[in-house]
Amino acid sequence: MYKVGIITASDKGSIGQRVDTSGPLIREIITPKGYEVIKYVVIPDEHQILVDTMKEMTDDLKVNLILTTGGTGFSPRDHTPEATLEVIDRVVPGIPEAMRYYSLQITPRAMLSRAVAGIRKNTLIINLPGSPKAVKENLESIIDSVSHGLDILLEYDAECGVEVND
Ligand code: MTE
Repeated sequence: MYKVGIITASDKGSIGQRVDTSGPLIREIITPKGYEVIKYVVIPDEHQILVDTMKEMTDDLKVNLILTTGGTGFSPRDHTPEATLEVIDRVVPGIPEAMRYYSLQITPRAMLSRAVAGIRKNTLIINLPGSPKAVKENLESIIDSVSHGLDILLEYDAECGVEVND
C-alpha cells in the first residue's frame, strides 16, 4: 500500500470560506486502488507554505505520493507549480503531458493548467487542477500508470518490459 499526502491549495478553503470537495474526491478515487491517505491538508495559495508542506510530507512523513489540487492556473495567486519545482530533484514531464493530452479531448481549457510533476527523494509529487471535475478527469487518466512508476521508484518492480494498454 502506498502512503499518500493530499494538499488542497485554496485561500478560501484554508479559512473555512469554501468547503473543499476536491481533496476528499482524490481520496475516494485512489483508496480502492491501494493507496492510503495518511495526511490531508487545506492550505492557502502561498509559495512558502506550499514548499514547507511538501517538504514535511516527503522528508518527515515519507509519503510515497503527494497529490496537490488547485493553484495551477493563471491567477496571480496560483503558485503550486513553482513551489513544486522548488522542492523536486527530478522532473517527470510525461505525467502532466498525459493529463493535458487526455483532458484536451474533454475541454480546450485543459491547456490552461500549468501542472507539473516530479520526484523528491522517494516521493512522487503531482499537481492536479482545482475543480472536482478536473481532478476526476486528470487523476483517472494517469493513476494506473502512476502505480507502475511508484513500483519502479520504490524498487518493488524492476521490470518495465511488460506491455499494458491502460
Ligand atoms: N482539465 C480537465 N480535465 N477538466 C477541466 O475542467 N479545467 C481547466 C484546466 N484543466 C479543466 C482542466 C481550467 S478551466 C483551468 S483554469 C486550469 O485547469 C487550472 O485550474 P486551477 O487553477 O484550478 O488549478
